[in-house]
Amino acid sequence: MAVLKGSVSSGEQGIPPIRVENLWKSFGSQNVLKGLSFAVYPGETFVVIGGSGQGKSVLLKHIMRLMKADRGEIYVEGNPIMALEQKELYALRRKMGMVFQESALFDSMTVLDNVAFALRMHTSLPEKDIVSQALEKLSKVGLRDVEKKFPSQISGGMKKRVAIARAIALAPEILLYDEPTTGLDPVLSSAIDELILKMQSDLAVTSIVITHDMKSALKIANRVLFLFQGTIRFLGTPQDLTISDDPVLSQFVKGETQGPIGTL
Ligand SMILES: Nc1ncnc2c1ncn2[C@@H]1O[C@H](COP(=O)(O)OP(=O)(O)OP(=O)(O)O)[C@@H](O)[C@H]1O
Ligand SMILES: [Mg+2]
Repeated sequence: MAVLKGSVSSGEQGIPPIRVENLWKSFGSQNVLKGLSFAVYPGETFVVIGGSGQGKSVLLKHIMRLMKADRGEIYVEGNPIMALEQKELYALRRKMGMVFQESALFDSMTVLDNVAFALRMHTSLPEKDIVSQALEKLSKVGLRDVEKKFPSQISGGMKKRVAIARAIALAPEILLYDEPTTGLDPVLSSAIDELILKMQSDLAVTSIVITHDMKSALKIANRVLFLFQGTIRFLGTPQDLTISDDPVLSQFVKGETQGPIGTL
């Protein structure tokens, strides 16, 4: 059952933090995204599910404009991002934090330096403030006394937490998580879910979370999008998802809750 999430505006008012309009992307002859359109509402945790290779990470990379669409547009806080100049793009990216699928920490930097990186790059704060802010972000994700360690010296679950601390370093309005619980045991997965809910309630962020973990999806989502063969097969609340009679969706949900990752 879905639990109560932080308050979310109706979605009908104001500018959606993210709006994807008719997004197309191919790699060679492979059509990965085929005309996706949807909006993410202010303060919402929007979960994207789907089998392996269905284009979830590609979609997220478009939202950060780490990839350029073949066709279509993405609006971040009303700004069409495909045509943005580098300077405007960087300014917009400062409002966004991303937790990559493999944590993607800088291996040669300590935990503290990983979290401080964006603060050093994008602010002119004095070093002592940078350090105290980085430590504060680490404590927000429940990490203490690991700041001097290197990524190779901490566990997978800790790395995910460091990646989240790094993503929130610049107090973003939008957080994008690519499979934040993959590879973690159920206790750690549940702790990351709690953290995502905490980020929503403490920081009032709008989040998109990609996950294979149905338990996590049902727990954290305000709405769920099921990506299948490059199109939106389902978009609705977790409650609607659990009562859907779409056989493709049911098969995916059953596969994900009962066994190892299915590929459909
Ligand atoms: N840079 C790229 N060049 C060519 N093909 C790519 C590139 N990035 C992704 N693809 C292809 O696009 C498809 C979708 O990839 P994507 O990484 O989005 O899948 P996914 O849904 O995130 O899968 P998973 O759940 O395994 O992470 C895959 O077939 C992948 O091989
Ligand atoms: Mg992926």
